[in-house]
Amino acid sequence: MAQEQAVDLKQVTKVQQQTWSQGDFSRIGIAGQAVAEDLAEAANVRAGERVLDVACGAGNGAIAAARRTWGPTVGLDYVPALLERGRERAAAERLEVEFVEGDAQELPFEDGSFDVVMSIFGAMFAPDHQRTADELLRVTRSGGRVAMANWTPSGFVGTMFKTVAGHAPPPPGLAPPPLWGTEEHLRDVFGDRISDLSITPRHLKMRYRSPEHFIEIFRTWFGPAKVAFERVGPDGEDALAGDLRDLLERSNTDDETLVVPSEYLEVVATKA
Ligand SMILES: C[S@@+](CC[C@H](N)C(=O)[O-])C[C@H]1O[C@@H](n2cnc3c(N)ncnc32)[C@H](O)[C@@H]1O
Repeated sequence: MAQEQAVDLKQVTKVQQQTWSQGDFSRIGIAGQAVAEDLAEAANVRAGERVLDVACGAGNGAIAAARRTWGPTVGLDYVPALLERGRERAAAERLEVEFVEGDAQELPFEDGSFDVVMSIFGAMFAPDHQRTADELLRVTRSGGRVAMANWTPSGFVGTMFKTVAGHAPPPPGLAPPPLWGTEEHLRDVFGDRISDLSITPRHLKMRYRSPEHFIEIFRTWFGPAKVAFERVGPDGEDALAGDLRDLLERSNTDDETLVVPSEYLEVVATKA
């Protein structure tokens, strides 16, 4: 962690915000709605509870929670266009969700404001892991739950991030996001402020027509991939696409289309 101190985390956060603003993550994120529904069940979200979805994108978690609370939920993200997609989705389903612009590392809520704080493949991307964990716990009431879905380092998405980083490296000294997909790191960042930690390895099956279709969709709509392809430029794009294609072919479980099970940890931590 000492190495991390040298990194300008505010500047990294600014660049990451610009990166996630590229493309339109909602086009891809809707395929993860089942993860949000499963997580809301794992966290036992109940009628009347106050729920926050951190780094909500187009609102999968906040929407899943609102189906269970019979009252308003809150989604927070730092990309205004994704919050707008979330507002459209919630309106279409007649669900009451407030979408708030903000940073996972500096949540604009009072201590203990929520019964459940969820984050689905979201808070794990904030560069200051300890501060993010502190914020998730701070806004959760004592006895409430922090519920997360985090990609594991050795699963498909964790490996994809490593593959992309081999071509377009992140700033040196940053803790990799999939660390959040390990029990050791979760215990490290939450420390003795939790009374229970339940961890279930699960898989999200990514379904596309082919490896080429996956690459096309990702480099068009997935900000981090779009930016990586721009960074490597015309000279590097064949090599990056080639390594992604190899990984997709190795990970594919279907003969005719692309079906890639990607491992994540479903995490429910109870605040002491
Ligand atoms: C992979 S997407 C997941 C979105 C959503 N949770 C879902 O399940 O569809 C990652 C999201 O995290 C958001 N994000 C990343 N770092 C963030 C930060 N520091 N503060 C707020 N949002 C952040 C991005 O804008 C993006 O919407």
